[in-house]
Parts: sequence; structure tokens; C-alpha cells
Amino acid sequence: MSDWLNDFEKQGWAELRDFITPEAALGIRTEIEEIQIQNGFKPASIGKHEQKVVDSSQRGDFISWIDSQTAPIRTRSYLDKMEELKSELNRHFYLGIRDYECHYAHYPPGTFYKKHVDRHRNGSPRRVSTVLYLNPHWEPTDGGELVIYNADQSSFRIEPRLGTLAIFLSELEHEVLVTGRDRMSITGWMLNEIIL
Ligand code: OGA
Ligand code: MN
Repeated sequence: MSDWLNDFEKQGWAELRDFITPEAALGIRTEIEEIQIQNGFKPASIGKHEQKVVDSSQRGDFISWIDSQTAPIRTRSYLDKMEELKSELNRHFYLGIRDYECHYAHYPPGTFYKKHVDRHRNGSPRRVSTVLYLNPHWEPTDGGELVIYNADQSSFRIEPRLGTLAIFLSELEHEVLVTGRDRMSITGWMLNEIIL
């Protein structure tokens, strides 16, 4: 079993550095910039269905959902990799993952996402969260780390470096610290239901 699978089994999360090559990651970043110009990103909301609200005191990112049918080529190769990852998770942990949904995310300087869980209590199909980071030359002084909390409130930080994938159980508490620079990613969720 590979190292990250061991980490994931023990801790419920893992950091995979160089999950994709710098070229592939920069390619996706270019695709994002193109989409930002053409369609714009919208402020992300919190809550579910009719209770959805934009609240920048909780989260300040801007997002654009990815449609696998129309996604540009570099993004599509990433989706193919996530398909493999989905099979690997099911093979090792019997998670019953059936689908994957994801969006591009942009955190402008000064934004953050306060501590939360991705799996809403009343029947969320989200089992595993994934974040692919697309930021070249990230420095510790740039902030913007993902902090994942264990049940005892001990925590681990992941820097949003180019090509790193963070993967964690969607029920674990986590937050995004204030970023000092534009912070780009693809955030996604492995689901135990098929979305239409
Ligand atoms: C989210 C989230 C983490 C990150 O979008 O739900 O927690 O590192 N993102 O961007
Ligand atoms: Mn989250």
C-alpha cells in the first residue's frame, strides 16, 4: 500500500506533494485564468439549498463549477486522475464512492474560509474532500494554509503549493487561513451518490 493510503487510513487525511507535474498544474492555472476572463467566478456560498447565503465573514473565495463534458483539456486530464483515485479509495477502504464533483476556487489576498466541515449532517453524500493547489513559488509568509483538525483538536497544516493534493475525510473540521496572495485550486468531493 502506498504511503498516502497508509496516512489516510491512520489519520483520515494525507498530503500528496507533486500529485501532478508543474507543467500540468500551470496548464490548469492558465485554463482558470481564461475562464475567469470569459465567464467570471461567483462568490461561494455557505449552507444548503434554500439556506444558501454568501457570507464573507465565513468564506471569501470565488468559484466556478467544473463540467466534465465541457472542461478544457488540462482540467480534463486531472479529472481522469481523480477517476483513478476514486477506484483506489474504493479498493482499499470500501467507501462506496460513486461520483466526483468539483469547482475551481480563487481566494483573493486577505480572504479565508473559517473552520467548517464539508459533510452536512442531514444526508450529505460527501465522503472525501480533495484540494489540488495551483500556486507557483508559494512561501510560508504567504499564509493561506489548509489546517485540518483531529478529534482532539491537534492540527496539521498543508501549504497550497503548486501540484500538491490535499485529501481528507469530509467530516473532519478544517479551515483556510488568511492568504496573502491570490490562491488558486480545484476543490472537489468524492460522493456516495451519483449526481445528475
Ligand atoms: C472548501 C475548503 C480548502 C482549501 O472549499 O470547502 O475547505 O484548502 N477548501 O481550499
Ligand atoms: Mn471545506
